[in-house]
Amino acid sequence: MSALNGFDRIAIIYDLLNRMVFGSAVRRAQAHYLSHIPARSHLLILGGGSGWLLAKITAAIPDAEIWYIDASQKMIGLSIKRTNAASRVHFIHGTEEDIPASISFDVIITPFFLDLFEEETLHRLIHRISRSLRGGGIWLAADFVNNHTWWQRLLLKVMYSVIHRMCRIEARKLPGWQSCLQKNGFIKMKSKFFFAGFIESTVFHRAAESAI
Ligand SMILES: C[S@@+](CC[C@H](N)C(=O)[O-])C[C@H]1O[C@@H](n2cnc3c(N)ncnc32)[C@H](O)[C@@H]1O
Repeated sequence: MSALNGFDRIAIIYDLLNRMVFGSAVRRAQAHYLSHIPARSHLLILGGGSGWLLAKITAAIPDAEIWYIDASQKMIGLSIKRTNAASRVHFIHGTEEDIPASISFDVIITPFFLDLFEEETLHRLIHRISRSLRGGGIWLAADFVNNHTWWQRLLLKVMYSVIHRMCRIEARKLPGWQSCLQKNGFIKMKSKFFFAGFIESTVFHRAAESAI
């Protein structure tokens, strides 16, 4: 990948901006279900960002082998600097197209990643990613959710208008990422809300027999 990714422009201040708006909610949502990752897992993290979550995972699950894919070279650079377990992490500057075909993952993690795409793309993307998940595997997704209060609708509008332009993401509004997962054969097993219901952390599970 050589083209400049929109997140390269803000990689260095991304975490700070996030904390200024959401406090610790984004981090708490991403970390909430990490205890569901089995020991010695093969783990795929897509759009992991600056690497703080990766550091948390490598510390909490010492035997996991991790493939860490992000489309931003700067985010990958920050993550490499942060990691204390480089021998167990395969860093890939790329996208879902670069998921190694030979690996059947136990767990897929998409932290604030599915919200970047329009629904049509998201269907294809989830289908593509899910081919790499073994039957019975889990998908941990944390993201914004549609909701009904005026301030959440306003915040979503502002966020999408800024991020669409600044980071050149495809989506202009929040896609129905949970229904896309469900249409691809995933079942929501657990869920917890953060930031007054604006953020949801979820565990999706794919039954072994519905492997695509
Ligand atoms: C909204 S940020 C979330 C970062 C991090 N997960 C967090 O919550 O702090 C989305 C991340 O996804 C990456 N990204 C965007 N499109 C991608 C793609 N198609 N494949 C992999 N990563 C992508 C961006 O470079 C960015 O690091």
